[in-house]
Amino acid sequence: MDDVLGYQGKRVVVTGSASGMGEATAGVLVDVGAEVIGLDIAPTKVAVAKSLELDLRDTASIAAAVEAVGSPVAAVFSVAGLPGPPFSDLDTMLVNFVGPRLLIESLVPSMPAGSAVACVASTAGLGWQQSVAELMPLVSAPDFESGRAWCETNAPMLEEAGGYVLSKKAMNIWVAWRAATLLPRGVRLNCTNPGPTDTGMMPAFEAQSGAELINRFVGPSGRRSTSIEQAWPLVFLNSPHCSYVAGEALHTDAGFTGALITGQIDAEMPDETARRK
Ligand SMILES: NC(=O)c1ccc[n+]([C@@H]2O[C@H](COP(=O)([O-])OP(=O)(O)OC[C@H]3O[C@@H](n4cnc5c(N)ncnc54)[C@H](O)[C@@H]3O)[C@@H](O)[C@H]2O)c1
Repeated sequence: MDDVLGYQGKRVVVTGSASGMGEATAGVLVDVGAEVIGLDIAPTKVAVAKSLELDLRDTASIAAAVEAVGSPVAAVFSVAGLPGPPFSDLDTMLVNFVGPRLLIESLVPSMPAGSAVACVASTAGLGWQQSVAELMPLVSAPDFESGRAWCETNAPMLEEAGGYVLSKKAMNIWVAWRAATLLPRGVRLNCTNPGPTDTGMMPAFEAQSGAELINRFVGPSGRRSTSIEQAWPLVFLNSPHCSYVAGEALHTDAGFTGALITGQIDAEMPDETARRK
């Protein structure tokens, strides 16, 4: 059976294709025969069909990318992100949530029934179920400008919780919420919640929290993930064979969440570092 995953000849979009998980995802998709369009603020090295410059903080850049991508689009992989400091909370919210939401919503009209979107959130967003009421005004904000305005108005909340954590909670909530209205038009929406992964942003996480704290978030495997280990679950989620999977947050964390919930991992940590993880 060739084309086992069903990507042969299909146009797919990958953000964050210049580095880490996005680069690995673009590479896998090229290998399985997709027509890959890579979007990133930095140059993409993978031999994709087309690579475009994209700044997820900028609506004009997002509109130009959508125009250049064209139609139809079979799958979107929303992987690009910022780690929080040294980047501002506002930029982190725009790149990790507000911008990707606009990009995806702008691509949906080009996505036929049977297509799918997979976003990368994070274990940093765990506990998002308790933040639904607080974050729903952001999650359901009608456009980029109102999403940005929410972030500016709620700057103290961003400062308190950390832009990275809030952006990842918002992504989990949006996936759970928006999947229900996208599915009737045949478009599935899911996300992954990766554990610590050795990528371009890991040095920033270590600078924020220290390697020891990061390593408390590895799962029972006792090691960090690689980019390719995060790429394959994304490719799996967007495969047409996952046709009954929607609104799902897949924990790609080597069992960390399960072990935490069942009391086998003590994730106690100092408040200052916890809020930035
Ligand atoms: N590395 C980890 O431990 C970890 C854990 C959980 C979740 N994540 C998430 O995984 C995703 C991928 O990150 P990664 O770990 O591969 O890091 P990475 O730094 O290697 O890749 C991030 C990519 O996003 C791009 N990017 C940054 N700002 C952008 C902008 N304004 N517009 C467009 N593209 C932009 C970068 O150029 C880079 O190619 C992110 O959403 C991140 O939050 C990472």
